[in-house]
Amino acid sequence: MSKLLLIRSAATGPASVSNALIDAYVAAHPGSTVTERDLDRNPVPHVTSESLAGIGRQAAEGSQFTLARALQDELIAELFAADTLVLGLPLYNFGMPSTLKAWFDYVARAGTTFQYSANGPEGLVKGKRAIIAHARAGKYDDAAGFPFGLAHTRALLNFIGITDIEVVTAEGLAFGPDVAAAAIAEASAAIAAL
Ligand SMILES: Cc1cc2nc3c(=O)[nH]c(=O)nc-3n(C[C@H](O)[C@H](O)[C@H](O)COP(=O)(O)O)c2cc1C
Repeated sequence: MSKLLLIRSAATGPASVSNALIDAYVAAHPGSTVTERDLDRNPVPHVTSESLAGIGRQAAEGSQFTLARALQDELIAELFAADTLVLGLPLYNFGMPSTLKAWFDYVARAGTTFQYSANGPEGLVKGKRAIIAHARAGKYDDAAGFPFGLAHTRALLNFIGITDIEVVTAEGLAFGPDVAAAAIAEASAAIAAL
């Protein structure tokens, strides 16, 4: 039985295409156990001078930093407990939503999800699969290195050790209702088939 961790970051609620793709994947995998982190409804706070001291190291008990550390522990535990990460990726200004970036800022912890050795960085979140449900208004050639959202997300997953990555993209969503409907139908079928 699969243990899924769903990471949602769309700000569009019920109209969200990336959320619909995540739902299509879940519907096609009945019997999975599902843990959900909706970064729109429950955003992870941005890293600030206050939280950084807590997420960077174990802070003294009772200090103002322990809340950030506790949240980081919880997010990392969810990640290690899953075997498949299903990650919604709306494209925002050519990048990932800042809510999703904040999640990565918390889960990338030296000594826990990655480490540096004489050979350079090594990801410690091993044996997982990630499925990226990508949604964007325009159409792009990802091989050209632009926009950055998908490449950045892949790089961060690789950095923490997740290298088995599938990407399903619904694009051209602003190119008119027919183009959008066809893109969503095609991507929904593709993600359900994974
Ligand atoms: C703040 C913001 C920035 C966006 N920037 C881009 C962009 O750079 N390129 C693009 O193709 N679409 C862009 N879009 C459109 C979204 O990628 C598109 O609406 C997509 O469907 C969002 O995912 P969702 O449906 O899951 O919310 C942007 C949307 C918002 C709200």
